[in-house]
Amino acid sequence: MPPLPESLADGFVLLRPWRAGDLPQRYEGFADELCQRHSWPRVEPPTRAEVDEAFARPGDDLNLAIADAARPDRIWGAMSVYDLSDAQHRAAIGYWVAPWARGRGVATRSLRLLAGWTFAALGLERLELTCGPDNPASARVAERCGFTREGVLRSHMLFKDSRRDTVVYSLLPGELTA
Ligand SMILES: CC(C)(COP(=O)(O)OP(=O)(O)OC[C@H]1O[C@@H](n2cnc3c(N)ncnc32)[C@H](O)[C@@H]1OP(=O)(O)O)[C@@H](O)C(=O)NCCC(=O)NCCS
Repeated sequence: MPPLPESLADGFVLLRPWRAGDLPQRYEGFADELCQRHSWPRVEPPTRAEVDEAFARPGDDLNLAIADAARPDRIWGAMSVYDLSDAQHRAAIGYWVAPWARGRGVATRSLRLLAGWTFAALGLERLELTCGPDNPASARVAERCGFTREGVLRSHMLFKDSRRDTVVYSLLPGELTA
């Protein structure tokens, strides 16, 4: 994964590497009920150590903080690029936004910024995004950025105490909407 430019920003949101000082806000944002429902696969909520570990895994994942561009120490959420295949020019993207920052276009703007960067810097030919069938807000974010809903992977994953379907979206070069 090539290094991210020092930051990606659009005047409202700022995507940047995580800093040690962000960790309490990251836990507070992710410990929220909606993030637990959609982005945490286990029934039991994560501990602070598990959240820290989940965002610090070695490997090819790119984990970024979403911050307030006007106050870069204020954390609004998280974006990640994962499942990067250099051979297939393909990757997946995921996100969550803290309850105090929702409903103001933070996820939509951040997804646009990071998706644009992955096509330009990584030379991707396909970007994937997945969500649960019961997550209309995430589906709306994907569709606002130009992603196409491709279908449903039935019984795709272990989630909480049963199996869950997964809705698959994709974005190809040139499809990102302004
Ligand atoms: C999904 C999530 C990231 C959206 O963040 P956000 O910054 O509030 O998103 P935005 O403001 O950019 O856009 C949200 C869109 O969803 C819509 N929306 C929100 N709740 C909705 C609901 N229950 N049903 C339908 N649409 C909904 C909003 O109206 C908005 O669309 P619009 O601008 O066309 O009106 C946030 O709710 C979240 O973190 N959820 C928990 C974690 C999660 O689901 N992560 C994604 C896993 S795939």
